[in-house]
Amino acid sequence: TQGACPFRGTRIGGAQGSEPNVNHWWPNRLKVEALYQDPPQSNPLGRDFDYAAANAKIDHKALWEDVRAFLHTPVDWWPSDYGHYGPQMNRMSWHSAGTYRIADGRGGAGQGMQRFAPINSWWDNGNTDKSRRLLAPIKAKYGAGLSWADLIALAGTVALEDMGLPVQGFAYGREDAWSADVNTYWGPEGWFGKPPSEQPADPQLGHPEQMVNRGLRWEGGPKDDHYDLENPLAASHQSLIYVDPEGPGGNGDPMDAARDIRETFARMAMNDEETLALVAGGHAFGKSHGAVPASEIGGAPEIAKMSEQGLGWSNPVGSGNAEHTMTNGIEGSWTPNPTQWDNDYLTNLFKFEWEQTKSPAGALQWTPTDPDAPKTPDAHLPGVMNPLMMMTTDIAFKVDPAYRKIAERFLEDFDYFTETFSKAWHKLMHRDLGPTSRWLGPDQGDTFIWQDPVPEVDHPLINETQIADLKTRALDLDVSATDLIAAAWAAASTYRDSDKRGGANGARVQLAPQRGWTVNNPARLDRVLNALTGLKSDFDAKGPAKVSMADLIVLAGCAGIEAAAKAGGHDVTVPFVPGRTDATADMTDDESFEWLRPVVDGFRNYVDDAVGYSVSPEQIALDKAALLSLSAPEWTALTGGLRVLDQNWDGSDKGVFTDRPGTLSADFFRELVSTDLDWQPETDAETAFDLVDRATGQTRWHATRLDLVFGANAELRQISELYAGVDGERYFVDTFVRAWHKVMMLDRFDAKAERKAA
Ligand code: HEM
Repeated sequence: TQGACPFRGTRIGGAQGSEPNVNHWWPNRLKVEALYQDPPQSNPLGRDFDYAAANAKIDHKALWEDVRAFLHTPVDWWPSDYGHYGPQMNRMSWHSAGTYRIADGRGGAGQGMQRFAPINSWWDNGNTDKSRRLLAPIKAKYGAGLSWADLIALAGTVALEDMGLPVQGFAYGREDAWSADVNTYWGPEGWFGKPPSEQPADPQLGHPEQMVNRGLRWEGGPKDDHYDLENPLAASHQSLIYVDPEGPGGNGDPMDAARDIRETFARMAMNDEETLALVAGGHAFGKSHGAVPASEIGGAPEIAKMSEQGLGWSNPVGSGNAEHTMTNGIEGSWTPNPTQWDNDYLTNLFKFEWEQTKSPAGALQWTPTDPDAPKTPDAHLPGVMNPLMMMTTDIAFKVDPAYRKIAERFLEDFDYFTETFSKAWHKLMHRDLGPTSRWLGPDQGDTFIWQDPVPEVDHPLINETQIADLKTRALDLDVSATDLIAAAWAAASTYRDSDKRGGANGARVQLAPQRGWTVNNPARLDRVLNALTGLKSDFDAKGPAKVSMADLIVLAGCAGIEAAAKAGGHDVTVPFVPGRTDATADMTDDESFEWLRPVVDGFRNYVDDAVGYSVSPEQIALDKAALLSLSAPEWTALTGGLRVLDQNWDGSDKGVFTDRPGTLSADFFRELVSTDLDWQPETDAETAFDLVDRATGQTRWHATRLDLVFGANAELRQISELYAGVDGERYFVDTFVRAWHKVMMLDRFDAKAERKAA
């Protein structure tokens, strides 16, 4: 075997994709391939598949009833606790949505990512593989018209309704991803931010690195150390959905647990009241499973044996399920009636004193001190009654004064608790579904402010002649084409494809907080918005067609690009699709929109120095390009184009490598890749640079990392060189105009065909 051909990777050497490879050798390289997450090639439905059309064909009512019937139909290979799969399904749905984080909109229920690594194998997601497999017959029955992402969210919602909670409706529309998310950063693997290799081994479970590989949670390390939750992540560390149920680092301290719960749920856009409603509401149902020590349990789905067919965490004890189930390690139920919506969770939390005990698996949990406290029936053994259980994170709601106040109100007013939980659940399930134009199905519930609503169009839209006329009139205003471009970019570029928030629709660029963001250069933005408001009033007065500010801002930007292209000798028409409307301040949650503020904006050469960074600006710029779903050529063309169009937020000359700012040309690329220039950092930190003429020693241009990365990174440089070449400008202009239009259309789910074409 030693002499076998290593090329095949069959005998010695690794398989295709295994380490060592580029990311192993150069872990800090800019991973431009991060722009190609979940590529269309991985999707077996093909590019023309229309989920909305397929979903419209299914009988939603019958589906709801099928899920309800399934909840009451136990199967032998994974029997339900208490004869009801509701709690198990509810936890699966919550964990699917619970990865959401408002800072970058990633995570969440939107694409069914719970099916893939790493999330399918996180210790915290133990046995959700069984929950999904139990639903497989329903998925097969409804086929492609019902995505896994929708079914996962639906099952927990039907479960709540079936167990007695009035729900707010349910919207479909989550389109499945078909490949693992290999890019999202989920936080450090061990406690306290140290890599697993630097952490001590757990006496029972071995070295942290092995544990992570097995999908197990490592609980070694100094339990009382203080650590900061890494901003902006929404879990205290990788492989947890939120926080450790046993308290931070398993320290059993309810006040510490309260601090972590507050912080992590806030990062998921939930306030204290919503948080408490969700946890107290969720834990009215079901039980925790800790019948067997974790060391007995097999590997997570990603490393399970072939014969396990994608299921993980095999349990060799007894039947391996039912009364032997081992999921988290804590054992027991919170209430005497775990399949019924009632207020017993809070009643018992407050009525009794609780003391720390250990589960059969060795986990830290709490039991009532009063021997007369109610008991809860065993989930499988007839006639057996067990003590109630609380987790450290549950006790947190009693000891933290702010949570306690809310809990007392919920305790006294069950109807209010019910309504708050129901609404918070609806938000949890739909938070990352995007504008309601993406929502599908017959019963979507009321509109809430977290949906970032925009009004319906209630007037005739502008036609081609009026579009042409408005373009001319915009260019005649007392603001420059550069200013018009800046306003359009400020409006549209807030979009993020992760949770489909932001974008030009709604014209929220004219509202707080966006209007005042430094990156938007508020003084210049005000001038443009005032000028466009005047133009809008003139136009609307004539009627019957009206133009919204949202449309006009984008339209004026198109006019600005066309004028800039013309100055460069390119006769282009930038496509424009009307139909946007203007939101008002009451439709806008300022705090929630503040999360869309860029801390680094490579397109406008902006770095907010007030934010401490552990990664370079170009990595954050790449991240933003990914959130705008740009390809590498689109990202490169837009950045180079916006530089020559003088779009730096502060009007600085950094990266404006042209003698004719405001003209669309490939000058940026020609200068960037020119071998006549030397690139000299202004300081050792390499944040600012002078581009010096090698022949004369004179500084020709100034630049930042956000400019020079397009010459330094191997892949981006290839694109820059193409654009700089003799025939490159036409590729550049084409890509720039296409990418510009694409960004303007990113939030236009209401104009589905045009959006897809863009
Ligand atoms: C079960 C922790 C929030 C719903 C569990 C289990 C743990 C846990 C450790 C036991 C898992 C097992 O061994 O089977 C936490 C923590 C939370 C939290 C630390 C946040 C502080 C929530 C929320 C919901 C929820 C927000 C839903 C709204 C449930 C349900 C179960 C459960 C229904 C029972 C599952 C079953 O019976 O199989 N939770 N949870 N939890 N959780 Fe949570």
